[in-house]
Amino acid sequence: MELLFFCLLLFISCVWSQALLSVLQNHFELSAFNSYVNGSQKLTNLLSSADNVTLLAPSNAAFKSWLPNQAPNLAEDQIEALLTYHIVHGVFPSVTFSSQPQFSKTFLNNITYANVTGGQRAELLTGSSGNPEIVSGNKIVSGISTTDVLFTGGLIQIIDTVLTIPLNFVILITQANFRYFVAILNAGGYLSPNDTPLVSNAIYAPSNTIFAPNTQAAVDSFNSISATMSQEQLAEIFNYHTVPGFLGYSTQLKHGMQLRTLQGTNLTITIQGNNTFVNSARIMTYDYLVCNGVVHMIDSVLNPSNTTGPPPPTGAQTPPATTSSSTTLYISIQPPKSGWTPASKAGVGIGVVLIAVALVRAMYFLLMWMRRRQLVGGEKRQKSKVVWNVGPVWGRKVTKQMGRERGVSPQELDAEQKSGMDMASPGVSEALTMTMGSRYEGSTVGSWGGELEGSGGPKMVIVRGHISGVAGGGGS
Ligand SMILES: *[C@@H]1O[C@H](CO)[C@@H](O)[C@H](O)[C@H]1NC(C)=O
Ligand SMILES: *[C@@H]1O[C@H](CO)[C@@H](O)[C@H](O)[C@H]1NC(C)=O
Ligand SMILES: *[C@@H]1O[C@H](CO)[C@@H](O)[C@H](O)[C@H]1NC(C)=O
Ligand SMILES: *[C@@H]1O[C@H](CO)[C@@H](O)[C@H](O)[C@H]1NC(C)=O
Ligand SMILES: *[C@@H]1O[C@H](CO)[C@@H](O)[C@H](O)[C@H]1NC(C)=O
Ligand SMILES: *[C@@H]1O[C@H](CO)[C@@H](O)[C@H](O)[C@H]1NC(C)=O
Ligand SMILES: *[C@@H]1O[C@H](CO)[C@@H](O)[C@H](O)[C@H]1NC(C)=O
Repeated sequence: MELLFFCLLLFISCVWSQALLSVLQNHFELSAFNSYVNGSQKLTNLLSSADNVTLLAPSNAAFKSWLPNQAPNLAEDQIEALLTYHIVHGVFPSVTFSSQPQFSKTFLNNITYANVTGGQRAELLTGSSGNPEIVSGNKIVSGISTTDVLFTGGLIQIIDTVLTIPLNFVILITQANFRYFVAILNAGGYLSPNDTPLVSNAIYAPSNTIFAPNTQAAVDSFNSISATMSQEQLAEIFNYHTVPGFLGYSTQLKHGMQLRTLQGTNLTITIQGNNTFVNSARIMTYDYLVCNGVVHMIDSVLNPSNTTGPPPPTGAQTPPATTSSSTTLYISIQPPKSGWTPASKAGVGIGVVLIAVALVRAMYFLLMWMRRRQLVGGEKRQKSKVVWNVGPVWGRKVTKQMGRERGVSPQELDAEQKSGMDMASPGVSEALTMTMGSRYEGSTVGSWGGELEGSGGPKMVIVRGHISGVAGGGGS
């Protein structure tokens, strides 16, 4: 039923809706967003000609809680990059969100920030709370506070949390706490300066899919197999975890799929019930967005010399379900361009207008009714928590924030800040140099794990020379 209403709504909007810029000006809760747009000729041009888009516009409240975590003078091109990440290709009404995520292309395609073919993605889905949400870099969740604000050319979803531009791989594994994977990187010597080209090729190639083993068992098995390996074999193992030129978001992984890795041989995807396996490794957490693709956390190390799949499931085998009906729903609701855009430009027949006038009154009451329902549902929503936004731009603030949260001394903070800025700098090689250099500083075995557990958050530990403790202390 809601679908039908929505189609009617879209139809009516063609006749009556306003241009995006004037909708922005008229929405009180978007005044901050509007002023950023107004301050940039580029954004103004982009939005005034926007067609077939969904604008994820952060509310004033969203900007208010975001701003204190940013460097004082955000440059215009940084704002532009951030806000272009909030413009999604295609029209996504809230009813098209479902538990099956959609990885939608955004307008962010500046290679300073993203190397993802077609533009960096944002994940649109219905969260566990049953409300539509958008997941961005480092799995930051944005809820939708006002759904489906129409304009000529698409609609606005007003979001309660500013999206985070996905960062590079090294920063991600630090922030998202891939502690065992870091231990493996360290044990294999992958962070050694000599291996820079290897590491860069594997993790910074454009449009990349990376499988990152992140369990104690993976560390143990890696330690046992790596002991006798040559440098070449170690390199092969590493490259076998990377699929270049393939954006393997969870929705793209199909049963029986063969993925050609950087190492040269293939990985096989197996779907059993709710689980997806890569060879015999199970994917534990899907879809960490990074600046050049996507990372999945897996439970064991992939080995090109053992490509066995998972053991057959116990009990009755359910046929692998990779597509849900929601995909069909999404397709069916997409307004055909030829149907309505020309109509909005050329004008529609008088008869149609008369019918529409009658419908508008009905729609108004329906909208009121739907909105009331939305509000009731909205009270239950868990507000998502912004931890921080990190970027090439915002490294300094992040470490400050971390210092504040952990109550470290000013000297310590200074040291962290310095390394934090390097880590967060867009120059990947600098980040790696920091990482690699520190490996040899030597530190107490075990301190890494303890520190990490104590504060529970991403650390600059890599750059602070504690990484050598990981191999021995990872299990603590
Ligand atoms: C911003 O708004 C002012 C006042 O409405 C207008 O004169 C100016 O042209 C706008 N700037 C842009 C870039 O749209
Ligand atoms: C890409 O981003 C950089 C840094 O923010 C900026 O200097 C450059 O103008 C941007 N390029 C385009 C095409 O917008
Ligand atoms: C994207 O790739 C280009 C060229 O390979 C590189 O200079 C740039 O730093 C990359 N951007 C990101 C965000 O990694
Ligand atoms: C490996 O995967 C690629 C890409 O899916 C496919 O074209 C190729 O046939 C596969 N090779 C083998 C040996 O299965
Ligand atoms: C798959 O997940 C759904 C929802 O979480 C659950 O209801 C179902 O029992 C699971 N199926 C299997 C085979 O684990
Ligand atoms: C290959 O991997 C599977 C699954 O991890 C394991 O059960 C099997 O023993 C391995 N085979 C060899 C020869 O190591
Ligand atoms: C709108 O954009 C989506 C996503 O890019 C695309 O699949 C669709 O074909 C477009 N629709 C029209 C009418 O242009």
